[in-house]
Amino acid sequence: NWSMDDFIDQQIQKIRETVGDKKVLLGLSGGVDSSVVGVLLHKAIGTQLTSIFVDHGLLRKNEAQQVMDSLEGKFGLNIIKVDAQKRFLDKLAGVSDPEKKRKIIGNEFIQVFNDEAQKLDGIDFLAQGTLYTDVIESGTSTAQTIKSHHNVGGLPEDMHFKLIEPLRTLFKDETRELGEKLGMPHELVWRQPFPGPGLGIRVIGEVTEDKLQIVRDSDWILRDEIAKNGLDEEIWQYFTVLPGIRSVGVMGDGRTYDYTIGIRAVTSIDGMTADFAKIPWDVLQKISTRIVNEVDHVNRVVYDITSKPPATIEWE
Ligand code: XMP
Repeated sequence: NWSMDDFIDQQIQKIRETVGDKKVLLGLSGGVDSSVVGVLLHKAIGTQLTSIFVDHGLLRKNEAQQVMDSLEGKFGLNIIKVDAQKRFLDKLAGVSDPEKKRKIIGNEFIQVFNDEAQKLDGIDFLAQGTLYTDVIESGTSTAQTIKSHHNVGGLPEDMHFKLIEPLRTLFKDETRELGEKLGMPHELVWRQPFPGPGLGIRVIGEVTEDKLQIVRDSDWILRDEIAKNGLDEEIWQYFTVLPGIRSVGVMGDGRTYDYTIGIRAVTSIDGMTADFAKIPWDVLQKISTRIVNEVDHVNRVVYDITSKPPATIEWE
C-alpha cells in the first residue's frame, strides 16, 4: 500500500533525524533528479541546505534563469550560482575530440564545485540525486564504455562528507511523480534528458561561444515548435546539433556560405535504443524555415533519420 504521500512524510522524517542541526550541501545541475532532491531537502531542513549551481555556459537558452526562478524564486532554496562560463570555454579551447571534451567538462565541473564548497564552513553532508537505476548500474558495469557519461560525482579524498541520497529507491517516473507532489512546475519535472556536458557535445568539434550561440538559438526554436504542436511528451529527446560544415545557399540575390544545423529527435523507452521521431512534415518545414530566418549564419537544416543502434542519440 505504497503511496507517494507516505514516502514524502517518511523521507522528511528520516532526513531530519539524520541531519539533526548539521548542514547539507547539494550540487544542482538543473536536471530533474537534483532539483527534486533540492525541493525535498528544503522542505525537510530549510536553511540548513545550501545548493551550488554551476553554470558552465553549456546550458540551453534561458535554462539557468529558469532553474533560478523556480528553485530559488518559487521554492526559496538558498542557491549559490557560479558563473563559470569562461573557465569552461578556456579549458575547451582547441579541443575537438568528444571524449576529451567530456573529461574536461566533467573535471572542471568538479573543480568549480569544490572551489565553492571549500568556501563554506561546517558542512557535514552531501546530498545526491542518485536513483535506483544508478544504484543498479554502478553495481554491474560490464558493458563496454561507448561514451563516458559524466555526471556530478568524484569528490576529492580530502572532503569527507556523509552522503544523503533520498531517491535511492525510486525510478525516474516515481521521481517525477514525487516532484509533482512537491508542487514543482510541470516543465521542470518533465524535462527531457540532458547530458552533463550539455551543448558542449552538440557543437561538433571545437566549442566556441559563437557556435554555442547558434546551437542555443536553433534549439530554442525547435523546442518552441515541438511544444506548440503538442509533441513534447511523445518525443524522448529533441535537440539541434552544429556539425560545423558550411555549404552554399542563396538568400535574396546573393550567394551564402554558411552553417548547417542538424535536428535530432528520437522516441525511446530508456535511451538504450531509440527510433528517429516521425515528426510531421509541416512541423519540420516550419522549424526549418524559422531556424534559417531567425538564426544568423545558418542556411541549411537537415533531419537525422537514423535510429540507435547503429547511431547514438547524441552526435558525439
Ligand atoms: P547516446 O548518445 O549514448 O545517449 O545514445 C544516451 C543518453 O545519454 C545521454 N548522454 C549523456 N548524459 N553525460 C550524460 O550525463 C554524457 O556525457 C552523455 N552523453 C550522452 C544522451 O543525451 C541520451 O539521453
